[in-house]
Amino acid sequence: MKKHIAVQLPPEPVRGYGILIQPGGLASLPAIIRKRWPGRRVFVVTDTNVARLYARSLQRAFDDVGLDSALFEVPAGEASKSIDIYYALTGALLESGIKRNSLVVALGGGVVGDLAGFAASTVLRGVSFIQVPTSLLAQVDSSVGGKVGIDHEAGKNLIGAFHQPSFVLIDPEVLRTLPPVEFRNGLAEIVKIAAALDKRFFRFLEQNASRVTQTNTRLIAQVIHRAVALKAAVVEKDEREAGLRKSLNLGHTIGHALEASSGFSIKHGEAVSIGMVAESQLALAAGLLNPDEYNRLVRLLGRCGLPTQMPTGLDAKKFYRALAVDKKNTGVDPAFVLLRRIGASLIGVRIPAPMVQALVQ
Ligand code: GLY
Repeated sequence: MKKHIAVQLPPEPVRGYGILIQPGGLASLPAIIRKRWPGRRVFVVTDTNVARLYARSLQRAFDDVGLDSALFEVPAGEASKSIDIYYALTGALLESGIKRNSLVVALGGGVVGDLAGFAASTVLRGVSFIQVPTSLLAQVDSSVGGKVGIDHEAGKNLIGAFHQPSFVLIDPEVLRTLPPVEFRNGLAEIVKIAAALDKRFFRFLEQNASRVTQTNTRLIAQVIHRAVALKAAVVEKDEREAGLRKSLNLGHTIGHALEASSGFSIKHGEAVSIGMVAESQLALAAGLLNPDEYNRLVRLLGRCGLPTQMPTGLDAKKFYRALAVDKKNTGVDPAFVLLRRIGASLIGVRIPAPMVQALVQ
C-alpha cells in the first residue's frame, strides 16, 4: 500500500533587506546594529588589508556602543576563497562561540563577502550576515543578491549558496584607499550592468567616464546607486538565476575561464572587461550585434582604463577546459550571455565550439 505524506511548510520568512549607500556610513554601523539587532554578538570577518585600514577601528566603535564583537582576518586575495580557509574560518567562528542568533559582518571586498557569506550560510546551518563592501566591485555587484561561495580546483565559485544578507552598508568614502587597479575592476562591473540592462545609464557613463574617480565621492555614490538599483531589481525578479539574472553574467563565461587559466593573475574586473569584448566579438560574428554598439563598448572600457584584448601567452588548453566546466554551461557548445545592443542582452546563446576556439589559438 502506498503511503504519502505531504510536508507543509510556511512561506519563506521575509527575506527582503535594505541597502544603505552613504558616504561616511561605516561609522554608523555599530549604532545601526545595536538598534536593529540588539543584544546580538557580532563576528566581523575581514582580510589583512582591510583590517589595517578599518576593521580594528570598527571593533573599537562596537566596544563604544557596548556591542560584543570578535574579529577574524583572512589573507587578502582570491586564494582565500578555498576550502581550507573556509574550514579554518568556520572552525574559528565555532571556537569563539558563534550561535544561531549571532551576526556575521563581512567587511571587505568580493573575496571576503563571498567567503564570509558562505561561512554564514553554512555554519550552524545558517546565521544572518551583513555585507559591508569596501571595494567598488563588491559595492556594485557581489554584496547584493545573496550569491556566496568559494572556488574549487574545477572552477571559480563552484561551491556556494544563495544566502541573502540582512543588510548592506555601502560607504563610498572607503574607496579613497582602494588601489587604483581595484577601482578599475569595479568599473568593469558597472559598465557590465549598464551594457546589459540600461542604455541611459551607459550613455551617462560615456558622458562622465573621466569624472568617475575614487575621490569624486558625490558622483561615484550616484553611479553606485544606479548600478545597485538595477541589480536589485533583477535579483527581486529572479533570485535563483533561472533566467533574467543570467544577464548579469555578461562577460563572465570567458572572464571566469581567463581568471582560472591564468591562475588568477588576471583580476576579476579585467577578466570581465576582456570577456565582454571577446563575447561581443562572438555576437558580432553571429550577426547579433552591430559594429557601432560594439565599438561603444570597447571605447568605454578603454576610457575606464580596462583591458579589452585577449592576453598573449594564455594556456589555450587550460582556457578551454575552464570554459567547458563553467557552471553556467550544460551542453557541448558553450552558452553565453551576448549583447544584442547597448542596454539589452540575450541569455543562453549557444555558439559553435569552433567559433569560440578561434578566440585563443
Ligand atoms: N554577479 C552576478 C550576480 O550576482 O548574479
